[in-house]
Amino acid sequence: MPGPSSSRTPLVLRELRWEDFSSRRDSYYDLYEEVRENPGLGMTLFRQRPTEAEEAAWFSRLYQAVQQGDSVVVVAEVGGRAVGMVSISGTSPGSAGLESSHVGVLGVLVDRGHRGQGVGSAMILRALELARRRFERVRLLVFETNVRAKALYERLGFRTTGRFVGEVKRGGRYLDEELMTLDLRTWQPPPEFRGTAPGSPP
Ligand SMILES: CC(C)(COP(=O)(O)OP(=O)(O)OC[C@H]1O[C@@H](n2cnc3c(N)ncnc32)[C@H](O)[C@@H]1OP(=O)(O)O)[C@@H](O)C(=O)NCCC(=O)NCCS
Repeated sequence: MPGPSSSRTPLVLRELRWEDFSSRRDSYYDLYEEVRENPGLGMTLFRQRPTEAEEAAWFSRLYQAVQQGDSVVVVAEVGGRAVGMVSISGTSPGSAGLESSHVGVLGVLVDRGHRGQGVGSAMILRALELARRRFERVRLLVFETNVRAKALYERLGFRTTGRFVGEVKRGGRYLDEELMTLDLRTWQPPPEFRGTAPGSPP
């Protein structure tokens, strides 16, 4: 799903490909460098960096879920390189038959060096539009301290609907996460984003 260049960067939004594995693994591994510089980094990490095999298993599950129509994934490319990904997936593996199967859980990561340039919002918008075919509601967890990300989600239409106290334990410190939700049945792309995502109608 290629789109026109944005004014700042030539951004292409597309579906997940099998060859995205190495860039998505490296992107996740890079968070382990980042969290050393920024202990408040707003992503929940595994205590031990996952092995290549674990990463491959995760990617393979995600890829399969996309093929089966159980996950929606949008990848952002800049200059022919994948620089970010958003996924909206069922609440747990094999959740397709559950009474909660109308709920999708959103996860997003933009590579360092490509943040603050509209990549995240463009990807999330596209993913929400696609997710309407599969889910009725979307939820995400965001660190209470991640004010920039929270502001972005709010601009896109998410609202804070709950709080997980002490959900993350990092370096002996407990961090709260906020639950943000969006009802896809009534959601409309906010006016400031309408027509801004690459490939969206003018
Ligand atoms: C949060 C994230 C996905 C947003 O994607 P992005 O491409 O940086 O966002 P956009 O450029 O589309 O939008 C920028 C807005 O995002 C917010 N933002 C959040 N984190 C940001 C960051 N690290 N750098 C720049 N902007 C950030 C700001 O509110 C900004 O709004 P502004 O334009 O009014 O300043 C991305 O910054 C990221 O991956 N951050 C690190 C991991 C993380 O915090 N993930 C959230 C998990 S819930």
